[in-house]
Parts: sequence; structure tokens; C-alpha cells
Amino acid sequence: MGVLMVGKIKARLSATLLILFASFLVSNIAVAKSDVEARNEVFAKDHANQYESWKATSEQDKLGGGLDEFPDMVILWAGYPFAKDYKKARGHFYAITDIRESLRTGAPVKDTDGPLPMACWSCKSPDVARLIDEGGEAAYFEGMWSKGGAQVVNPIGCGDCHDTASKEFAEGKPALYMSRPYTERALETIGKPFDKASRLDQQSMVCSNCHVEYYFDGKNKAVKFPWDKGMTVEKMEEYYDNIAFSDWVHQLSKAPMLKAQHPEYETWSQGIHGKNNVTCIDCHMPKVQNAEGKVYTDHKIGNPFDRFNETCASCHTQSKQELQDIVASRKEAVKELKKKTESQLVHAHFEAKAAWDAGATEEEMKPILTDIRHAQWRWDYSIASHGIHMHAPEVALKTLGTALDKAADARTKLARLLATKGITHEIALPDLSTKANAQKALGMDMQKLESDKQEFLKTRPVEWDANARKEGRLLSK
Ligand code: HEC
Ligand code: HEC
Ligand code: HEC
Ligand code: HEC
Repeated sequence: MGVLMVGKIKARLSATLLILFASFLVSNIAVAKSDVEARNEVFAKDHANQYESWKATSEQDKLGGGLDEFPDMVILWAGYPFAKDYKKARGHFYAITDIRESLRTGAPVKDTDGPLPMACWSCKSPDVARLIDEGGEAAYFEGMWSKGGAQVVNPIGCGDCHDTASKEFAEGKPALYMSRPYTERALETIGKPFDKASRLDQQSMVCSNCHVEYYFDGKNKAVKFPWDKGMTVEKMEEYYDNIAFSDWVHQLSKAPMLKAQHPEYETWSQGIHGKNNVTCIDCHMPKVQNAEGKVYTDHKIGNPFDRFNETCASCHTQSKQELQDIVASRKEAVKELKKKTESQLVHAHFEAKAAWDAGATEEEMKPILTDIRHAQWRWDYSIASHGIHMHAPEVALKTLGTALDKAADARTKLARLLATKGITHEIALPDLSTKANAQKALGMDMQKLESDKQEFLKTRPVEWDANARKEGRLLSK
């Protein structure tokens, strides 16, 4: 024991010395430039098929859905940036455009203005890999989102998945690598270090840089995945409960809430394809042939049904129509349960507010708020995992089932509590028929948010791009 302790302290000391020595070197020799090439256009000539198909993700340009389709979600996210704006995802090509235009990122005037931290860039660009490589994670995560505007300018691309400096990549081999150290650590946590993983595993792991659940940890708001106990909805919930983490306090119910991001990697791994190690690539990036018959990987990541012959049909004998019908009916089933759960949760948030207004105590509210927290986390885990109706429909239905149960538990307890305060009538809901009405019900000044955003878009991103172009970080027009 004593020996071990000494060993540890020694290791620490020498690490500190190393860091001191390294920073001495850095301050004297100037920072080494990164090996990560974030400018996708650089590879247009040497890897034309991959580049052109990557660029074709720009054809998937439709925005929409989200809050416009499901206004109840405005209430579920009351007090959190997602209540301002949330749309369906589109092609990787639009990652930078969309984060700039989202009302969630607000209209920061200065580099130090909020509302969001640097971490929000993390799944948008190979410039993130470049910045981390150049200055380390701590320096990258430090500060507000606005600080990174002139640096993070190229949309999700080659340097997010490929070791662009390697000889293998130059020769036209994949050279997949782990571009984010926090993902590398998370994969180690679940016992699957990237460097020891099989080629098939690595093909899905590159997507796990972004298509996962994560949260912003500590003072520095660094990205961390809550996988220490496992990747199921219960294990992550347990993890968050143990560290008493919450993303925000709900505006109406005052519940300490969790916001799920997009746990696709987690839910895929629990579905039938994940269990059989059918990778993300098998369906989303099939091997195809160019005009000369040369085989390459199709980089137009989108809906696998668009290339049915090279995706599903490489393993299944059913027709496209048959499989599409199966997937569509599962989507419908998930959507039905999703809407039911949302409705229960909306009532629960308003009823909890009524209970507070009627003088309920913290102690009376605590078990109810825990039910609401868990119910909404489970709802979000299911629905924010895009494509879950295809990847793991049984996980979605089971998880939504428990969400519905917990929301009902909260409402039963609320009815009892409200009765003790003399309130026996139903708590009426405001008009939530459209996104605008729901936002109005929360007292949100959308006009100001919109006009500030328009002003922002005319100024800051224009300066950011001009700066990045001048300094050679951005090649596209
Ligand atoms: C989201 C991750 C991702 C992005 C972004 C990406 N690739 Fe790939 N790339 C892959 C995967 C996965 C493979 C196939 C790996 C395998 O076969 O094991 C691949 C394969 C390749 C190969 C090997 C030959 C082939 O076609 O299989 C080249 C070359 C390549 N990509 C170039 C590029 C270029 C150039 C860009 C940017 C314009 C790019 N990739 C962007 C994931 C990505
Ligand atoms: C660097 C982060 C990052 C990586 C790596 C990444 N994605 Fe994405 N992906 C995103 C973001 C962000 C969006 C949403 C872009 C938008 O709407 O502006 C997205 C969107 C998508 C979409 C929706 C496309 C559409 O047209 O609707 C699919 C499908 C997808 N990704 C699959 C994958 C797969 C498969 C991989 C791995 C091969 C992968 N992604 C790797 C961040 C990433
Ligand atoms: C067995 C095939 C298959 C595998 C494996 C697979 N997907 Fe999908 N994925 C699909 C299909 C099909 C859809 C579209 C479903 C539909 O049409 O409703 C989809 C949808 C998506 C979407 C939502 C796109 C949107 O615009 O809503 C994302 C994101 C996504 N997949 C990412 C991934 C990631 C990341 C992985 C690996 C961790 C993965 N997929 C593994 C077949 C697959
Ligand atoms: C690389 C091979 C592969 C590809 C590509 C693939 N699958 Fe599968 N699929 C499997 C395997 C393996 C199973 C499990 C079979 C079993 O255990 O009986 C499976 C099972 C299924 C099932 C039945 C299980 C269930 O969920 O009810 C459906 C439906 C299905 N796949 C749809 C699709 C669709 C749609 C696509 C294309 C978007 C696709 N698959 C692509 C290999 C593949």
C-alpha cells in the first residue's frame, strides 16, 4: 500500500515535470502546427470519388420538423435553449451553417458573450480536431462559443474520420482514426479502446464521435460521455443521478432536468443489427462503383434506402417496398407512443407549477420532480436517437413505455398533493397548438431573438469567414 502510494506520487511528479518541460519547449519554439487537415477541398483532386460523394450531402438540404411539428416539445424544454429552436437534422455539409443559424446559439456580439460554451462546436467540424491537436483540450474548451467562430469554419469532413496526415490516407486507404480524445476515453471506459478495435468496430466508432449522448462537464464545460456504468438508458440515468447532474432547471415544474443529445451509437449497439455487428457503414456508407468500375466508399451519408441495392439488399432478400413498409410501421408505432408520453409530461409540468403556486414544499415536491426528470430523460433518450425506429425499435418502445409509466406516477402523486392544497379541478393547459403559441405561453420574446439573430448573421459569421479565408483556414467560397 505504502509503496503503491509512493509510486503514484512519483508518477505524478514526473508528469508535472514533463508538462513543465513541454510548456518550456512550446513557449520557446512556438506552437507546432497541427497535422489535421480540416479543409475538405484539399482532397478534392486526390480522392475525387470520396470528395464528390461527401459534397453531395449538400443535396440533403431540407430543414423543418422539430418544434414546428411537435409544439409540445417547447413546453418540455421550457427554460432551455432547445425551446427556442429545434429542427430535424440534415446533411453533414450544413453543420456549420445550421449551428450559426440556430436560435440556440443566440447573437453574441463579442467573443466572450454567451449564451453557449465552446463545447457546442464539438460535433460540427474537423477544425475541432485541428484545434485540440494544436493546443490541447483545455485550451479548446475554454470560453464561449463565439470565441471559436473564426476558427471552426469547415463542416464535418475528412479530418473528422481520417488521419489526413498518414501515408495510408495519401495512398487511398481509409486510415480511420479517433479525432476526439474524449471519445477515445469513453470507448476505453466501455472496454473497447479504438486502437485495439477491429476494422468493423472502428467503422461505427468514427460515428460515435458525434452520434452519442454526452454532457458538458465541470467548470470548463468539456464534453464527456456518461458511459462509466454502461450505455443503456438506466445506466446513464444512474450515472447522472449519482453525480447529481442536471442540464437545467425546468421553468414550470422546477425539476432538475436532463437533456439527451442523440444516442444513436448506444441504441444501435442494443438493436439487432448492432448486436450482429452490422455497422453504421454497412447501411449509411456502402461500397459502390464509379463509372470505370472502381470500388469506393460512398460518402453521401443519408437515408440507406436511397441505395437499397448496395445496403439492405446486400444481406436481405426482401424487396425494398417490404422493408420500407416494416420500417415505416415501426416509425408510426414509436411516434404514437412518443406523442402520448409528451402529452403526459406537458400536463405534469403544468400541474407541478400549480402545486408550487399552491404552496407545496420542496420535500413534498422532491419525489414528483424525480419522476418527471426520469420520465423525460427516457422520452428524450428514445426520440433524440434519430432513426431509432430502424436501429432498435424494441428499445424505443420499451424505453418510452417506462417514460409513460413514470410520467403517470408523477401525475398521480401530483393529483394527491394538489388535493391536500384544496385543488381538485383539472389544471388547464394554455393553447399549445403551434410552436408560436407554446412559446408565447412561456413568455418567450421570439421577435427579439429572431431580429438579434438576423443582425448577428449579417455581421459576425461574415467577419469569421473573411478572417478564416485571409488566414487560409477556409477555401470554399
Ligand atoms: C463520417 C466519417 C467520414 C468522413 C467525414 C469521411 N470519411 Fe472517408 N471513409 C470513412 C469510412 C468509414 C471509410 C471506409 C472504411 C473502411 O472501408 O473500413 C472511408 C473510406 C475512405 C477512403 C478509402 C477508400 C474508400 O473509398 O473506401 C478514402 C480515400 C476516403 N474515405 C476519403 C475521404 C475524404 C477525401 C473525405 C472528405 C472529403 C472523407 N473521406 C470523409 C469515413 C469518413
Ligand atoms: C463530427 C461529428 C459527426 C460525425 C463524425 C458524424 N456525424 Fe452524422 N451528423 C452530425 C451532425 C451535427 C448532423 C446534423 C447536421 C445538420 O443538420 O446541420 C449529422 C447528421 C447525420 C445524418 C442525417 C443526414 C440527413 O440528411 O438527414 C446521418 C444519417 C448521419 N449524420 C450519420 C452519420 C454516420 C453514419 C456517421 C459515421 C460514418 C456520422 N454521421 C458521423 C455529426 C457527425
Ligand atoms: C441496418 C442498417 C442501419 C445501420 C446498421 C445503421 N443505420 Fe442509421 N438508419 C438506417 C435507416 C434505414 C434510416 C432511415 C430510417 C427511415 O427511413 O425512417 C437510418 C436513420 C439514421 C439517422 C437519422 C437520419 C434522419 O435524417 O432522421 C441517423 C442519424 C443514423 N441513422 C445514424 C446511424 C449511426 C450513427 C449508426 C451506427 C451507430 C447507424 N445509423 C446504423 C439504417 C441503418
Ligand atoms: C451487413 C448485413 C446487413 C445489412 C446491410 C442489413 N441487415 Fe438487416 N439484418 C441483418 C442481420 C444479421 C439480421 C439479424 C438476423 C437474425 O438474427 O435473424 C438482420 C435483421 C433485420 C430485420 C429483422 C429483425 C427485426 O428487427 O425485426 C429487419 C427488418 C432488417 N434487418 C432490416 C434491414 C434494413 C431495412 C436494412 C437496410 C437499411 C438492413 N436490414 C440492412 C443484416 C443486415
